[in-house]
Amino acid sequence: MRRRTAGAAPATPADHDTASAPVPETVPDQDPPVRRAARAATMLTDSGTTLVRHARARRARWIGAIFAGIAAGALVFGGAAAVTAAVTGPVISADGGLRLSGTDPTPTEAAASPPPTAIATATPAPEPTVQAAPASVDICAVPAVTAALGSGDDAAAIAAAGGAAAFRDAVASGKAPCVALDDPSHEWVVVNKLRPFSPIDWEPASLAVPEGIQTLEGGTLRTGAATALGALAGAVATEGAGEIALDSGYRSYTTQQTNYGDGGPSIESSVARPGYSEHQSGLAADVVACGNGCGTLDDLAATPQGAWIAANSWRYGWIVRYESGETDVTGYVPEPWHLRYIGPELAAAYHDGGWHTLEEFFGLSAAPDYAG
Ligand code: DAL
Ligand code: ZN
Repeated sequence: MRRRTAGAAPATPADHDTASAPVPETVPDQDPPVRRAARAATMLTDSGTTLVRHARARRARWIGAIFAGIAAGALVFGGAAAVTAAVTGPVISADGGLRLSGTDPTPTEAAASPPPTAIATATPAPEPTVQAAPASVDICAVPAVTAALGSGDDAAAIAAAGGAAAFRDAVASGKAPCVALDDPSHEWVVVNKLRPFSPIDWEPASLAVPEGIQTLEGGTLRTGAATALGALAGAVATEGAGEIALDSGYRSYTTQQTNYGDGGPSIESSVARPGYSEHQSGLAADVVACGNGCGTLDDLAATPQGAWIAANSWRYGWIVRYESGETDVTGYVPEPWHLRYIGPELAAAYHDGGWHTLEEFFGLSAAPDYAG
């Protein structure tokens, strides 16, 4: 698993999506030396590759040290009950959700977004904190989790699990059998070259035109994603980065069939096969920068809007889904314009944890190619 500090490197101009740009005759993957150079540059911003490779081990040491510190503090100040709470981690509260011990803030509070600032460049992700629930907790044994899942309330399920970091830990460690990552009705669905929609022509229950952002082709999104994209566009403008527009949102299975056309290897690192595109979920948005007119998808990365999105989209529940240097995991060349809505809680955990692919975030297999 590779995790880097936050902030996406810009893509090369070889990237293509299918919304407004014609399908290219050939879409080469990044030239290997270019890819290596881009990756090296990204890693240099993280103070070197050693830090990258050992981030997870360091995280474990930090968590261990922090737990030890909490236990020691509890011994001094809180007595035996506090010690027990500190070393046993979260408990199920009267309302059926997971609670952390003592007076620690809840994970949701801990993951709250910082107040808006000027255009942020890549900010180092902080070390994971003690608020994460132990991976040994089966969140499906928590009544409030199953109740929230039953009512389709993703945010409530995450909160009842002890917060997004605890939710992720449980899913990635196989302690969340009631959480289906292949269910497109949930904001945590993972769609890739190994995880098509089922049925292949699945459709969202409802779609909306987002407000607060111009839409170039009448694009639509699922309701929560539409609201969040409008909020994101507002923040891009008020924080001084300029305007953005939605170039392409939901794409039906039949629209994908049209876009993909005859398809084939030459486009498959940039265009999903019908039934394999995140756009079918209604949770993906391709955005462009606008000023005197709007630019192309390829133009976005070099604009202030693109820099803002790379650094800040997580604050509004979005992640840049196909980052530079992750083609061997995602199956696609970088697409700085392709945003994926996973909700504010999970997006904060994704950012704070230094994740760069949804596959690794949830402990799934890499999906560089189709199964057949
Ligand atoms: N361009 C992305 C991978 C899609 O076709 O969904
Ligand atoms: Zn896209």
